[in-house]
Amino acid sequence: MSFARTPGRVNLIGEWIDFNGGTVLPMALSQSVELELRGNAQAVDRVQSQQFAGCTGFGLDAPAAGHWSDYVRGGLQYARRQGWLTGGQDVTLTSSIPVGAGLSSSAATIVAALKAASCHLEGIDPVQIARAAKAIENDFIGVPCGIMDQMAVAVGAPGSVLALDTRDCSYEIIPVPADWTIAVIHSGIGRALADGRYKIRREECLAAAEALGVAYLCDGELTSAAALSPVLARRARHVITEGHRALNAAAALRSGDRQAFGALMNASHASLRDDLDVSVPEMDAIVHDAAALGADGARLTGAGFGGCFVCLVPAERAETWWNALKARHPGAARIA
Ligand code: GLA
Repeated sequence: MSFARTPGRVNLIGEWIDFNGGTVLPMALSQSVELELRGNAQAVDRVQSQQFAGCTGFGLDAPAAGHWSDYVRGGLQYARRQGWLTGGQDVTLTSSIPVGAGLSSSAATIVAALKAASCHLEGIDPVQIARAAKAIENDFIGVPCGIMDQMAVAVGAPGSVLALDTRDCSYEIIPVPADWTIAVIHSGIGRALADGRYKIRREECLAAAEALGVAYLCDGELTSAAALSPVLARRARHVITEGHRALNAAAALRSGDRQAFGALMNASHASLRDDLDVSVPEMDAIVHDAAALGADGARLTGAGFGGCFVCLVPAERAETWWNALKARHPGAARIA
């Protein structure tokens, strides 16, 4: 039997820039995926979970089926190609990461499958695992995501921020100051990443980079970006300014400047709402109230369109702040 546990993540700032050459600041959560593998003597992968319906049996090379077990099976197929595993597997998955909330339950599941499959091997670098998990998500699942989520869950640990340069996967681990509370709240608004909107935004960003003649949109100049067509100009403005905000936020985190970090989070939300168009009015309303009730910063997190938002709150006021927000938005649920 082999086993792995992998956390979910929340991204504090640096949104939609992990395929645009930016630095991102995700933090691992205490919620996690736990995965157990047992070889079976049959040419079939069987995946079961208490959280998700149905024990599924699939052929060893069966393609993705739009089923929750795809994330596990993509990992198993990769591991067999690497020689980390042979034959069919019986898999048990337990997860405390909410699904479809923007907290990387899919990346955590793939990474957990890869870590369990390779736990008997020496010298497998977590960065190698993260790169493999991204390839599986891109090629097997069909979501053209960047590398942030896989790195955050493969390398990160709860309580610290992974300041990740997404160009080369170099990173710095920065502890969260003791007087900061990072609150992660589910807005109550559902979302789905594989529904095509992620791909459209990504293509717009790549088109803007091409039009500006830069390899990564984060390297674009705001003045040149303003001359693009109106939609591409706004996408580029989000990416370029978010790239700067994330670097400034890393500096604010290192120096413990909570107000500066919070102001950058608020500006990030406004940019995601106005320039990238990945927010929804209900999310804007609750994020606005979170700040109005005393958070230093509040913003949607992950791809957007619903799911969770993240707030920075002075630790000594975190409980009163949350009670006031919950009273105004009873459908919201605090995850961390
Ligand atoms: C999703 C993707 C990530 C990243 C974020 C937006 O979580 O999986 O790669 O692009 O959206 O920052």
